[in-house]
Amino acid sequence: MTPSTPTTNPATNPTTNPTTNPATNLATNPVTNTSTPAAVPFRRRPFVGGNWKMNLLAAEVVALAESIAAPSGGDGGAGGVDVVVFPPFPYLATVRPVLKPGVQLGGQDCSAEKQGAFTGQVGAAMLRDVGCASVLIGHSERRHGLGETDALLSRKIGQALDAGLVPVLCVGETLAERESGRAHGVIDAQLRGSLAGHAESALATLVVAYEPVWAIGTGRTATPDDAAEAHRTVRRTLKELYSARFSEQVRVIYGGSVNARNAAELLAREEIDGGLVGGASLVASDFAAIIAAASRRS
Ligand code: PGA
Repeated sequence: MTPSTPTTNPATNPTTNPTTNPATNLATNPVTNTSTPAAVPFRRRPFVGGNWKMNLLAAEVVALAESIAAPSGGDGGAGGVDVVVFPPFPYLATVRPVLKPGVQLGGQDCSAEKQGAFTGQVGAAMLRDVGCASVLIGHSERRHGLGETDALLSRKIGQALDAGLVPVLCVGETLAERESGRAHGVIDAQLRGSLAGHAESALATLVVAYEPVWAIGTGRTATPDDAAEAHRTVRRTLKELYSARFSEQVRVIYGGSVNARNAAELLAREEIDGGLVGGASLVASDFAAIIAAASRRS
């Protein structure tokens, strides 16, 4: 089923994005003076997601949504950041009309099925129909909390792509896996399993969120070095699965207790293209500080 609205995807619509190749997410470099390397932006467009999880009621949702602004260029122009909020399902249609220009809407999950007798599930085409540009796939609270498998997540990615949504695939190891030296093997296996059956050509918009389970909602953040190393693992796997070019164009963002204080240090690393933010995204000023840190990459 093809959703009737919206007819353009703000994350990928080339007509709203004159300086970024939508197929690759690679910004063209607007800096002509190459003698000032510090001013040269990182090549991939930053992506900051606010995952509101199962929090807030309608009045709070509206107040929070109204307070979020994308940096100039947030609607696709140069210097911008893809800013996406992921409200609970019942409030997607409430949030959409109050979002400021350039702030995008995303779903926290979608069904692995297209439509039919699946009580309580939400189809990717429905998310697109209410204005979502992207969808989280395989958040650890679903992998570990609800037992979602890589095979299931692969099917969800297929539904997201069919509906024209940007899939934000979450991967990450548990504390036990990290402490036993298996973190990178786990990340590699999750990527291979979740992306199984999907061709490089279909995955042009893919975003990968590295979210170590032990850092989510715990106040314990991966060090920038550890996060950067994990992101290199993600790219290595993508290179093995697909191509060097693909592995360089996919945005890999970090999630796990990102806050207004640690965002700048994390997002200063070339490997870290943005953040997926839970708790701090519920506080407008903290989320704004994280977006500002991301905008300094562009
Ligand atoms: P947190 O959540 O920022 O509250 O750790 C991140 C996430 O779950 O995406």
